Amino acid sequence: MTSPRPLPTPEQDAAVAPMINHPLQRQVFVCTSKSCSANGSEAVLEAFRASLMDEGLLFYKNNTQGAVHCSHCGSVGFCAIGPAVLVYPDGVWYAHVTPEDVPEIVESHLKGGVPVERLVRKRLG
Ligand code: FES
Repeated sequence: MTSPRPLPTPEQDAAVAPMINHPLQRQVFVCTSKSCSANGSEAVLEAFRASLMDEGLLFYKNNTQGAVHCSHCGSVGFCAIGPAVLVYPDGVWYAHVTPEDVPEIVESHLKGGVPVERLVRKRLG
């Protein structure tokens, strides 16, 4: 058995990756792989970023107190029913999301904690 490789301490990591200590509450992942992109997922991602920015919720370098991190992701197997949107730590996977659905997801789920059931197709946990 090999000895464990040396790692920086959590404090050293937090000094170079300050988001470790920022008050994030949720992550939103929008699939931008081939099938979801063909169904408009880039516009869905931009709609999330714009809506979260308007609400002051988007975490980014100029708002490190934002509660929601939003990013693209690769295929999750919802290719035939995309665009796929995943919300964590809730483990809620949405399908068929359009830019028009985004304000409802932001208001109901990301602000209110209540998923938009008509678009939910999978739950983890
Ligand atoms: S391309 Fe988005 S889930 Fe497969």
